[in-house]
Amino acid sequence: MEKTLAIIKPDGVKKNIIGEIISRFEKNGLMVSAIKKITLSKEEAKDFYIVHEERPFYESLSDFMSEGPIVVVVLEGENAITKTRKIIGATNPADADPSTIRRDFAESIERNIVHGSDSPESAAFEISYFFSEMEIRH
Ligand code: CDP
Ligand code: MG
Repeated sequence: MEKTLAIIKPDGVKKNIIGEIISRFEKNGLMVSAIKKITLSKEEAKDFYIVHEERPFYESLSDFMSEGPIVVVVLEGENAITKTRKIIGATNPADADPSTIRRDFAESIERNIVHGSDSPESAAFEISYFFSEMEIRH
């Protein structure tokens, strides 16, 4: 079974749709393997998104990701990485397919509700960024 990291971003937490988002993953056959609500400092948000450090949106994205609590979730299932990103939808909600989380709830390309790892390598980095071995060994 594959594991991936999803994040309900500060906009999703503020909209009070944590349950709705988790439910969409569960209804598509993914299981919650580990979960917690935390608040990142700006430096921690920058570290998490270090792959985007050269992009013009890096500072603004890091401000957004540290503006309030987030929920970090390890999801487990068959093809969990691809499946999670399909349920989330395209980065820009205007381009996202109908019934995806971003199409239904996101306000803009930046404030797009949820994150999902994009490869096995990023999933491994991102899960270990937030969870210890003890928290995910089941
Ligand atoms: O999250 P996803 O993998 O779909 O997109 P990304 O290209 O890895 O970008 C990471 C995050 O940066 C996005 O989810 C957006 O919140 C933000 N972003 C942005 O603010 N403006 C862009 N032009 C692209 C991404
Ligand atoms: Mg990405």
